[in-house]
Amino acid sequence: MNVAVQPKTLSERADELEHQMEEELERVITKSALFHLADGKVSYDSGASLQAKYPGKYMLMGDDPRLPKMPAKPTLLDYFRCRFASMNHLLQSATHALKAGLPEKTVLACLLHDIGVSGFIRADHGYWGAQMIEPYVDEEVSWAVRVHQALRFFPDDSVGYKYPDMYLRAFGPDYKPEPYILREYEAARKHKWYMTARQICVNDIYSFDPNAKVNIDDFVDIVGRNFRQPEEGLGWDSSPSAHMWRTLMRPTRYL
Ligand SMILES: [Fe+2]
Ligand SMILES: [Fe+2]
Repeated sequence: MNVAVQPKTLSERADELEHQMEEELERVITKSALFHLADGKVSYDSGASLQAKYPGKYMLMGDDPRLPKMPAKPTLLDYFRCRFASMNHLLQSATHALKAGLPEKTVLACLLHDIGVSGFIRADHGYWGAQMIEPYVDEEVSWAVRVHQALRFFPDDSVGYKYPDMYLRAFGPDYKPEPYILREYEAARKHKWYMTARQICVNDIYSFDPNAKVNIDDFVDIVGRNFRQPEEGLGWDSSPSAHMWRTLMRPTRYL
């Protein structure tokens, strides 16, 4: 029986290209289960299947040659430059806070508030971002980064903060935050650092201004004074979140 050859779909061609690229690299680069989930697949690349597919090749256990090279002892700013997909939102928010004359701790919180989104994972970005910075910043900063995720859904007239129009467009008028977000908000309202987290929302720039002049270099001193850079390099230290930074440094390490 003749089976007609089907033309390859776009995704098949993309897979083929990806495999071709992998073969040209010295080491086998694999996708973690989470990356497959993000592609809508419950799947992972097993060691045996990879060895069968790439006989004689070793798995990648270090830097991914496709990504910008990071220095041996990376700093927070190296992650901004080499790993965060976008700095503009963070820089514009921090610049806004700086111009408003807010304390350095609050400016730092604004600078770091969405590192979950720009560098790690969108879902629960406030929690992830807070956990990453927790060992290196004042507790007030990481607390504020964590709860800004909940606060931004709730207005506060006392500081002129309204529910963002952008959220109406992004999530629709009927969207209701989950109960854990409501609980976080209610607890935060009574907290002594409530206003620090609220200031993140107030200074959160939802509409990107392409003409704004912002530069990470403007924040070198504030970061230097308020972020405890580990001597070994961020990711190579032994803090409770060092592994998260290492994962960001080398996201395709086999193990
Ligand atoms: Fe955010
Ligand atoms: Fe934001």
